[in-house]
Amino acid sequence: MKVTVFGIGYVGLVQGTCLAEAGHDVMCVDVDANRVEKLKQGIIPIYEPGLEPMVKDNHQSGRLNFTTDAAEGVAHGDIQFIAVGTPPDEDGSADLKYVLTVARSIAEHMDGHKIIINKSTVPVGTADKVKAAVQEVLDTRVGAHSVRDNLTFDVVSNPEFLKEGAAVNDCMRPDRVVIGTDSKAAEEALRELYAPFNRNHDKIIVMDVRSAELTKYAANCMLATKISFMNEIANLAERLGADIEAVRQGIGSDPRIGYHFIYPGVGYGGSCFPKDVQALIRTADGIDFNAEILKAVESRNYDQKTTLFRKIQAHYNGDLNGKTFAVWGLSFKPNTDDMREAPSRVLMEALWEAGAKVQAFDPEAMEETQRIYGDRDDLMLCGTKESALKGADALVIVTEWQAFRAPDFDLLKQQLAEPLVFDGRNLYEPGRMKKKGFTYYSVGRQV
Ligand code: UGA
Repeated sequence: MKVTVFGIGYVGLVQGTCLAEAGHDVMCVDVDANRVEKLKQGIIPIYEPGLEPMVKDNHQSGRLNFTTDAAEGVAHGDIQFIAVGTPPDEDGSADLKYVLTVARSIAEHMDGHKIIINKSTVPVGTADKVKAAVQEVLDTRVGAHSVRDNLTFDVVSNPEFLKEGAAVNDCMRPDRVVIGTDSKAAEEALRELYAPFNRNHDKIIVMDVRSAELTKYAANCMLATKISFMNEIANLAERLGADIEAVRQGIGSDPRIGYHFIYPGVGYGGSCFPKDVQALIRTADGIDFNAEILKAVESRNYDQKTTLFRKIQAHYNGDLNGKTFAVWGLSFKPNTDDMREAPSRVLMEALWEAGAKVQAFDPEAMEETQRIYGDRDDLMLCGTKESALKGADALVIVTEWQAFRAPDFDLLKQQLAEPLVFDGRNLYEPGRMKKKGFTYYSVGRQV
């Protein structure tokens, strides 16, 4: 099938590439000429395992193309995905200006029936806004003749559920494909589009448009709720003399609860959970409903991001001036270089504010850290996890990269001024750390 994807960010690029991989003929459109040029050379703008070779292969085989020309994009696909960003505006609501710009551009250039699909995470009611924006442009183009001229369209909500770091796999082997539409023809077209991804058992769930839009927010907010809940219990465990890791296993074994997304830590970050929780709170406010649970999820998360700093501060009786900390893990989670809303940023900024220095290492996010913070005397970017330790007063672990799970503890002891570790991800066993002679702080466990 011929498909166009507007927006070559995370979602658009992964979606476009996976559709091409499945055999569809895909054109990706972006306003960023530099990005488009690089993609044509096989250079991808993000770090995502497995994506680069797939982009190259499909581009070379002619199934995946890139352009800045919206008219070319609209002419290409019967199916038009909108996968542009919806950044939060000042009050935390999702800003729809890019989505609506693409909708208008589709309307300006279309010359036949189009299925317009919202892939971006957009508030409930956005499909109606897209519909109105498209119709408005068509009305000015051809007046009452849009149906006669075959300028008809459907707007479908088809939210994305991929995770950074596992995006290719999530897209090629989805748990579910949610399709929100009131059009049988659009449903049939999407069933055909997703047929290559819909093997073994039927993963397609068809519903009305508004329910599909809400499903996306409900999914992310439910996951964020699980995390904040566990962080709350971890705080209790710490203060009650219990061990959150035992509690986690104890409750996860109940299939109604399950083991997923109940890891306590330093709070959730990234481009999705913080933004989506906030946006749903704003949506609720907008209809005079107080989203109490979501507000609590957000404030627990805000607090949790300072947990490592508070432990460090307490250990040193509030005096961090002149201290140096090795920080392992800067991205908001492993297998990505993304530092949006990353807990590491809250930690480092608090350490600097208190007069401390940071020696930081991350397997992928060093360039991004440099881009965000530039050159500063109190930040040393280190090429390896070992070199970050040299002469530091303590090690602080913020992101659970695989490479941090089994370090050389003797070397750690040698390099650090004292055997002191603050672990925001519970990577090690407190008992073993004690035996090795470390003072070991973790989350929801006893020191
Ligand atoms: C999230 C969702 O998991 C995807 O399903 C969704 O499609 C995506 O948002 C989106 O809306 O685009 P992502 O932000 O890539 O994906 O990352 P997650 O793996 O969900 O992790 C989010 C944060 O939660 C991370 O900071 C992670 O460290 C934290 N987390 C996760 C915990 O603290 N504990 C856990 O048990 C799990």
